[in-house]
Amino acid sequence: MPDPTAAAAGLAAETRQIFGRDWLCAGRVESLPDPGCYLTLQVADQPVVVLRDADGQLRAMLNLCLHRKLPLLQGRGKVAAITCPYHAWSYRLDGHLRGASSLLGQGLCQAQTTLHPLRLLVWQGWLLLTLNPGAARPTEALAEVARWIAPCDMTGYAEVLCEDFRWPIDWKALAGSFIQNGAPLPGAAGSQSVLETDVVHLAAAQPAGTPLPGDRRHLTWLLAIYPGLLITLTPKCLWYLCLTPDGADAVRLHFGAALAPGHHDDPDAQALLAQVMTLLQAVQDDARDPGLPDGAFGRYLASRLPA
Ligand code: FES
Repeated sequence: MPDPTAAAAGLAAETRQIFGRDWLCAGRVESLPDPGCYLTLQVADQPVVVLRDADGQLRAMLNLCLHRKLPLLQGRGKVAAITCPYHAWSYRLDGHLRGASSLLGQGLCQAQTTLHPLRLLVWQGWLLLTLNPGAARPTEALAEVARWIAPCDMTGYAEVLCEDFRWPIDWKALAGSFIQNGAPLPGAAGSQSVLETDVVHLAAAQPAGTPLPGDRRHLTWLLAIYPGLLITLTPKCLWYLCLTPDGADAVRLHFGAALAPGHHDDPDAQALLAQVMTLLQAVQDDARDPGLPDGAFGRYLASRLPA
């Protein structure tokens, strides 16, 4: 019988030492094509908004009004400015306060009043952010991933569907089972090899017996960029899960699929996407009975949560 007190303590430690410190994925950059497009997510219990400002620059900020620390935006959408639904303080898309009558009466300086900015970078079309001002940039580790999957480059892949949902599964079971019990797309089989670095812990699997040079069009890579980005990548399409815990025994998921350049008119694309949905169910089933955590994930957890 699980001990709820221990589970709550474990989740608090994971929230503080993993999701509050590491780089996390908010989804694909092409989901924010125009100024004012935004998405929201929870990161270590903090509401976060990622948006494209009026100059086209991508920004990540705490999604909390400066007045009473209440959430500003919900879900996904497009706005010309950010207006708080509670007392109508409004902010420019770069986060600067632009209007608050009660604030002006208090003599506060608008120019120095801005939503709390967060670190954000874009890698091969992925929006990566962290709450941690001291987190090392994962550039080197991600360059290693890029070499691993070369010449496949996810930059040009375009998202064709995405969805948010919640599974009643411990996030660790899902992250730990993805490589071990991964469900590659048709035509690929799945033993794995593991790549790991000190900056961002990641693992990659490739089809057994298929050498990287040559015959690349039959490859499927399973990439787990811990703690929360799980990617199944093929030269034709990719699909992914961005996960964050939602309590001790549930996980919030952002799921999406994207097609490679030149494949939007592929007659097989719709069938491929339909199969992705089937594979998504297989991943959920695997996570319900995960067995021992994947070796790389086990080491990642041990590095963040020492005994
Ligand atoms: S909480 Fe936002 S204006 Fe009051």
